[in-house]
Amino acid sequence: MPPLPRDLLVCPVCASPLEETDRTLACAQGHRFDAARQGYFNLLTGRGSPFEGDTAEMVDAREQFLGSGAYEPLRRAVVAAALAHASAPGVVLDAGAGTGYYLDGLAGTAPGVFPVALDLSKAALRRAARRLPGGISIVWDVWRPLPFASGSVDVLLNVFAPRNADEFVRVLAPGGCVVVVTPRPGHLAGLEAVGPLLSVPAYKADDVLASFGGALVEAAREDLDYVMSLPQDLARSALVMGPAARHARAGQAGPVVGPAAPLEVAARFTVQVLVAPGFSPDREGPIRDPEGTEG
Ligand SMILES: C[S@@+](CC[C@H](N)C(=O)[O-])C[C@H]1O[C@@H](n2cnc3c(N)ncnc32)[C@H](O)[C@@H]1O
Ligand SMILES: [Zn+2]
Repeated sequence: MPPLPRDLLVCPVCASPLEETDRTLACAQGHRFDAARQGYFNLLTGRGSPFEGDTAEMVDAREQFLGSGAYEPLRRAVVAAALAHASAPGVVLDAGAGTGYYLDGLAGTAPGVFPVALDLSKAALRRAARRLPGGISIVWDVWRPLPFASGSVDVLLNVFAPRNADEFVRVLAPGGCVVVVTPRPGHLAGLEAVGPLLSVPAYKADDVLASFGGALVEAAREDLDYVMSLPQDLARSALVMGPAARHARAGQAGPVVGPAAPLEVAARFTVQVLVAPGFSPDREGPIRDPEGTEG
């Protein structure tokens, strides 16, 4: 692991700075967290979390699906959005990073990025730690105060994952940006042939903006739509990796019967960039109404 940026991590027990030596994070008060054999750090202490991260089966499906390149156009859009709006993408935190796919895209494009993968799922962070040897992977619950110093994160990614608006605002550095990806209605239409789909609530991107209560405003919003041609095994992975898998057991996601024609499946996303009000980066899109009263 390369040197941890100074003043980034804080101790989850006492909030003093955490330093890294020989794969152990420690604070001056003597709280210590050793790296797991798989490379990530588990900072969850005491009661842990009442929430569940993705299971190993969901993570395997996600890895197989992302490995096919089906979300590569989305990854390119996320990287472009982050680079267009961050004045200096040094520390990049992905909250709900999963296997680190989007962080990897950004770190591979912008030298000097220090990627930080945060997720509740150890199965996901095993993959992220392997994929991002130049960064750090941290098991943590996004609903607890984040183990980062205030103003320490230059770019914060949040891709199909829960978001803690107050904490995102606190950890964001001046001039930093938050890039949020949400699905739009009709996302994954076509997958019904393999199993049940959860419907996507309308106006999710507006809800994202409203959840920041004006503490961040929208610097850009882009809708990205395309059609994926998915062989049956990838179509099944797309179903198993998502929230539908929590409701229908993965085994019920339908057998892989083949050879069969690939399924035409819709990809429909919104990529939003949020920044502090008054900050004026070189931006591509309009600053939107911070009250979220448009549309
Ligand atoms: C739909 S997946 C998206 C993963 C990744 N962003 C991607 O798109 O490849 C949602 C992720 O959020 C994580 N997650 C769910 N609840 C969480 C929480 N309370 N704190 C941190 N991560 C959480 C899950 O473990 C999972 O990896
Ligand atoms: Zn401590």
